[in-house]
Amino acid sequence: MASTYRDALAVCAIAFACLTSVSRSSPLTCKDLIQPLDEVDPHDFQGTWAMVADSLKVIEAETPVETCKSVRIDFSNTTFTKANLCGERCQLFSRNITLDGPHYSFSYGPVNFTGTLYKTSCADCMLLTFKMDAPKEKTEELCLFSRRRAVDEKNLKEFEAQVKCLDMPEHVVMDWTEALCSTNPGRV
Ligand SMILES: *[C@@H]1O[C@H](CO)[C@@H](O)[C@H](O)[C@H]1NC(C)=O
Ligand SMILES: *[C@@H]1O[C@H](CO)[C@@H](O)[C@H](O)[C@H]1NC(C)=O
Ligand SMILES: *[C@@H]1O[C@H](CO)[C@@H](O)[C@H](O)[C@H]1NC(C)=O
Repeated sequence: MASTYRDALAVCAIAFACLTSVSRSSPLTCKDLIQPLDEVDPHDFQGTWAMVADSLKVIEAETPVETCKSVRIDFSNTTFTKANLCGERCQLFSRNITLDGPHYSFSYGPVNFTGTLYKTSCADCMLLTFKMDAPKEKTEELCLFSRRRAVDEKNLKEFEAQVKCLDMPEHVVMDWTEALCSTNPGRV
C-alpha cells in the first residue's frame, strides 16, 4: 500500500491561485511575506497550473521520496487532477478537496493531505503549503505554481524569502523544458 499511494501522489498536489497581491512596501518582513489568502473562490483557480518551484521537507519516510520532473494540476470546481512526470512515467491522481477559508484538505485511503493558500505578488501564481500525513510517511512542502512554465527572477526571490520565513529546506526550481503530462488517462 505504501508504495502505491507514494506512486500516485509523489511530490506536491493541490493548488489554488493568488489573485491578491502582497503589498509592495519595502522592506518585506516574514509577516508581510507569509499571509494566508483572505478568501478562496474555487472559480479563480480553474484550469491548468504548472509547478515552478518547490521546497520539500521530509519529516518521516521509509524510502527516499521520489521527485518529479514536472507537476501539473488542473482544477474544475473543487475537483483537481494532478499529473506528475516522474522518471519516464506520468502519474495521474484526482480528488475533491474541502475548503475552509484559506485551508484545504483531502484524503486518499489512510493518507491525509492538508495545506494553506498564501498570497504572492506574482499575479499568475498560486502559493501553497502541502502536508502529507501517511502512517509511515510525513512530508511538508511549500509549492509555487504558475500559469506559466517559468516565473521571473523577482518571483523566485520572493519565493526564496518565503521558504526561509517558513523554515523550509532550500527550494528547487523546476526545469520548464520538461514536458507536462496530459490529464487525460492514457496519454502523455
Ligand atoms: C461547478 O459547480 C457548480 C455548482 O456546484 C455547477 O453548477 C457547475 O456546473 C460546476 N462546473 C463544473 C465545470 O463542473
Ligand atoms: C468528486 O465529487 C463528485 C460529486 O460528488 C463525484 O461525482 C466525483 O466522482 C468526485 N471525484 C473524485 C475524484 O473523487
Ligand atoms: C486522517 O484523518 C482521519 C479523520 O480526521 C483520522 O481518523 C486519521 O487518523 C487520519 N490519518 C492519519 C494518518 O493521520
